[in-house]
Amino acid sequence: MDVADAIRTRRALRVLSDRSIGKEAVSSLVEAARLAPSCFNNQPWRFVFAQGEPALSAVRDALPSGNNWATRAPLIIAVAARRDDDCKLSDGRDYFLFDCGLSVSQLILRAVELNLIAHPIAGYDPEAVKEALGIPEDYVVITLIVCAHRGDDDSLLSEKQKESEPERPERDPIDDDFFLDSWGNPFTE
Ligand SMILES: Cc1cc2nc3c(=O)[nH]c(=O)nc-3n(C[C@H](O)[C@H](O)[C@H](O)COP(=O)(O)O)c2cc1C
Repeated sequence: MDVADAIRTRRALRVLSDRSIGKEAVSSLVEAARLAPSCFNNQPWRFVFAQGEPALSAVRDALPSGNNWATRAPLIIAVAARRDDDCKLSDGRDYFLFDCGLSVSQLILRAVELNLIAHPIAGYDPEAVKEALGIPEDYVVITLIVCAHRGDDDSLLSEKQKESEPERPERDPIDDDFFLDSWGNPFTE
């Protein structure tokens, strides 16, 4: 699979299998994440792979009902970072979240290549996740990445989630967000 295919294929899918993910695949996700670029090579990201018990159950307990679909995943990765561990520029540019995003994105695309679902979520109780995984208080838990093989039982999804499963949610028109030469100037003209 080339990168363009991985980008096209990736979806935030919710119908998961509980089949475990092999060690080699998990190591490959680690490698993809750690090779990401970061400001001054600061590598602010910390990834906690919740695969064993009681860690996984405790993370599942931190999910709200809207993310109930994620409770079937055999692997949930918590991504945490601290502002002070990465570049902070005087005009307000703090790079720790940005660099974590780059790293997570690489992990997700590698997961796609391995035919895995890797679905980032923001819906969880961050304090409960910290408690579950021993993440120190001064870290921000930026996302959980819900990882699984594809499944075939959609009974944990809401009706709305079932509807959005087969089709990628629409993106904004290109010219709303992408400009040529000057802010607001349509990119595609
Ligand atoms: C930072 C972030 C937080 C998200 N939080 C949730 C979430 O809590 N629950 C959920 O079901 N999906 C969540 N998603 C998935 C998005 O809803 C999904 O990526 C978006 O609708 C676009 O769909 P696509 O990824 O299939 O193209 C999140 C995605 C991101 C990047």
